[in-house]
Amino acid sequence: MEKPQRSNIALIGFMGVGKTTCGRILSKRLLWSFLDTDNVIVKQTGLSIPNIFKQFGESYFRKLEKQLVAESLANCKNTVIATGGGMGADIENLTILRKYSVIVHLVSSEEQILKHLKKTTNRPLTQRDNTSDFLLELYKKRLPFYHTADVEISTLGRSINQIVHQIAKIIQ
Ligand code: S3P
Repeated sequence: MEKPQRSNIALIGFMGVGKTTCGRILSKRLLWSFLDTDNVIVKQTGLSIPNIFKQFGESYFRKLEKQLVAESLANCKNTVIATGGGMGADIENLTILRKYSVIVHLVSSEEQILKHLKKTTNRPLTQRDNTSDFLLELYKKRLPFYHTADVEISTLGRSINQIVHQIAKIIQ
């Protein structure tokens, strides 16, 4: 594969596929900076993601995500960007992200995602009565957006190090 010219890597994909964990390790390996979009929003607002959803609603959080993509992220260089699961499922965000990042979709399976998300409590979208049905529907809606990534890497049956190694091989 041709060496990509864009100077960041943006990891996209559904909640729980390992964007943050892989991103952090990948950035160390490449000697790049690391940025987690959820963390930036938490720092900017002084609120946790569940509190932003609770106090201001999901649409406000999406606005903050859009602002981040359009403003701060555009100045990043040699940075691995771990996006929140909804950021990479929005055509405007993807169009802008693509200008300055190679977009990598971390692909998992419905089963693995549900299994992983059952164990977590810090994501507002997983705290509802019909969580599994809701998440599966959301996953299906988002997949066509995720599939527009420059590179897709399956996480199934692979260790974090193997995933990171594969992304680094493609990028370097
Ligand atoms: C969300 C994913 C979360 C976080 C927020 C909403 C989503 O990030 O941005 O809870 O809509 O998929 P992770 O993908 O890192 O869990």
